[in-house]
Amino acid sequence: MSTKPLFIKSANQLITLKGGSHSPVTKTKMSELSIIENGAVWISDGRIESVGTTNALLEKYKDRLTEAEVIDAIGKIVLPGLVDPHTHLVYAGSREEEFNMRLNGSTYMEIMNNGGGIHATTQKTREASQEQLVQESLVRLNRFLIHGVTTVEAKSGYGLDWETELKQLQAAKRLNHIHPIDIVSTFMGAHAVPAHYKDNPDAFIDLIIDEMLPKVAEQNLAEFNDIFCERGVFTPEQSRKLLNAGKKVGLLPKIHADEIEPYEGAELAAEVGAISADHLLKASEKGIKMMAEKGVIGVLLPGTAFFLMAEAAAGRKMIDQGVAVALSTDCNPGSSPTCSTPFMMNLACMNMGMTPAEAITATTINAAHAINRAADIGSIEEGKKADIIMLNIPNYMQMQYHYGMNHTDTVIKSGEIVVK
Ligand code: NIG
Ligand code: FE
Repeated sequence: MSTKPLFIKSANQLITLKGGSHSPVTKTKMSELSIIENGAVWISDGRIESVGTTNALLEKYKDRLTEAEVIDAIGKIVLPGLVDPHTHLVYAGSREEEFNMRLNGSTYMEIMNNGGGIHATTQKTREASQEQLVQESLVRLNRFLIHGVTTVEAKSGYGLDWETELKQLQAAKRLNHIHPIDIVSTFMGAHAVPAHYKDNPDAFIDLIIDEMLPKVAEQNLAEFNDIFCERGVFTPEQSRKLLNAGKKVGLLPKIHADEIEPYEGAELAAEVGAISADHLLKASEKGIKMMAEKGVIGVLLPGTAFFLMAEAAAGRKMIDQGVAVALSTDCNPGSSPTCSTPFMMNLACMNMGMTPAEAITATTINAAHAINRAADIGSIEEGKKADIIMLNIPNYMQMQYHYGMNHTDTVIKSGEIVVK
């Protein structure tokens, strides 16, 4: 790591998100971005050393200015690197032919129940070498990076057998080493019921609990344990059993909840104390209230609703009722083949009633909370990792106003310039 300090100065708006690191940000606080006009950041040894106005930092560092690399942010905004807290990053192949089938009237669940969907990607992922998974996922990571994303969560779940789940989780570890983006892993052995267990999904849940979860924990392969709780996939009872078993070995619960049909997934997330419940397109009033009470983060995936041509989750209502909302791509080959987290912010404004300010909170500090990293990333505050992006727009509202475009100008990861 270079020892030369970085000095970002003269940012039109420095969006710090200061103050939200302790607990997820809710309600009107989601609109408070803590903006410093004509802002500056001093970065040293990969960490944020000082944050303030350009004048204050010029004064404070006047004797060290010559040793720093200076980045001029005149006319631009500077904000924390985006965090994407829900991706299926590691897989092989793609499924554009299913997209075409859906455009011709088939549904996502029909395709899956006929052996396509998650099963099709599982087949390709089983056949792929770890190296192939790494290479295909690197393409996606590079796409994330140029959109200003500096940390992603990545789930397994295209193995549905131990050998392939392990291969995916190990590929994620390697990717974390070789690529600037930080990757936080989730074990999702219960992503679909494999054909072999079709008539006895309970036995598959038991296999995951008895054989896979202990190995995930022992080998330190993941921090979270996720399940697709959906009619025709796994029931709330099976989900409860699996998530509680994961907790016993130290894996924090996450849940794909109420995506296609209401199924009391949000209620279950509150009951088991999940760190997040994700999707929530069909979450019930009661479930939303319970999530707010228990502090379960709602990770909303408006790209999935967009791509499945479904009505988006009730983001506005969830925020008004006190749910801390985060946003994510759900990057996967079936329901959301995108790496553009900023486009999710556009969709959140257009289809979920969120504001540009709330969308920023939802992709920075709240997204960091959703993967248990808020102490280290998600805001521009002294002591945090220097994951910072600069956008070529003069104010944050233009990020969503000029929609469908990539405004990323510079990406700084752990104090290093990685995109310029
Ligand atoms: O989050 N809903 C389940 N899993 C993914 C889709 C995976 C796929 O279609 O390959 C999701 O939407
Ligand atoms: Fe997902």
